[in-house]
Amino acid sequence: MAIPIILDCDPGTDDAVALLLALASPEVSVLAVTVAGGNVGLDLTLANALALTALAGSRVPVFAGADRPLLGVFTSEPRVHGTDGMGGVVLPKGGAAAPGVAADAIRGILRDAAQPVTLVGIGPATNLALALMTEPAVAANVAQIVLMSGAWGEGNITPAAEFNAWSDPEALAVLVACRRPLVFATLDLTAQALVTPNRIAAWRALGNGRCLRAACDIQANVPPSIRLGLAGSPLHDPCAVAWLIRPALFTSRPGAVQIDLGPGPGRGRTLIDRWGVTKTPPHATILETLDADGFFDLLGHRVALLP
Ligand code: RIB
Ligand code: CA
Repeated sequence: MAIPIILDCDPGTDDAVALLLALASPEVSVLAVTVAGGNVGLDLTLANALALTALAGSRVPVFAGADRPLLGVFTSEPRVHGTDGMGGVVLPKGGAAAPGVAADAIRGILRDAAQPVTLVGIGPATNLALALMTEPAVAANVAQIVLMSGAWGEGNITPAAEFNAWSDPEALAVLVACRRPLVFATLDLTAQALVTPNRIAAWRALGNGRCLRAACDIQANVPPSIRLGLAGSPLHDPCAVAWLIRPALFTSRPGAVQIDLGPGPGRGRTLIDRWGVTKTPPHATILETLDADGFFDLLGHRVALLP
């Protein structure tokens, strides 16, 4: 049985591969794509999500969501994703967004779900939080929440915080507080998923479909990470989707997660206790290691299945 998911994203060069992976994989059934501002503004992340679903030949509904965090001001990250969010790769324009807004769509899907739905968050968590805050009862129909978010080590947008968590820490805290099973793919995990020219070349050898070509062209334009010694660019968001598709690629351990909501330099930090030192119940699953070759092989073969 395919796992029903809602994919909340901010495309985003890595979101693009995560979305294509989800659309190509029979292990998951994408009920809806919801979009927030994040890597770039909502106008662009929405257009990118629509272009990507059209490129994949998918009719999955795409809903516009929050263009800013619950508190504070919106801040994008064009240095990694380019000013268009797609690394400068121009995709054919997609169709129209589904009517309504993301939080309402998420609530409606959860409210009417015949079986529990997995929420996959690979951008700022604003849409997911708004849905659960405005109709708490629908959390009963959330099977689990799988997030690319946070870090137990250093951050990437500040020394303390990872971009998604930092972008809307209050929204992330809402998800932690809703007490549904949580899975974190943090920067410490995604640092093991480095895109390199060799890995892109291996993908290109798998086919000539427009989606595979786009994934390769987009990833080829992402700069290697200075934080990771220029060894490659971490492919963050597909880790969250791949865990649902092939969990054997990962190892994990239970952990307790707290969010720094203060105004200081630590704002947005995820305080992840993997060793039980805080005596906080280890309510989350923290992904720790990745079979990187198996991961890239899975991604390439799956995206090669698309048009
Ligand atoms: O820190 C990495 C995360 O922030 C990824 O989801 C990337 O797309 C950006 O949104
Ligand atoms: Ca993202």
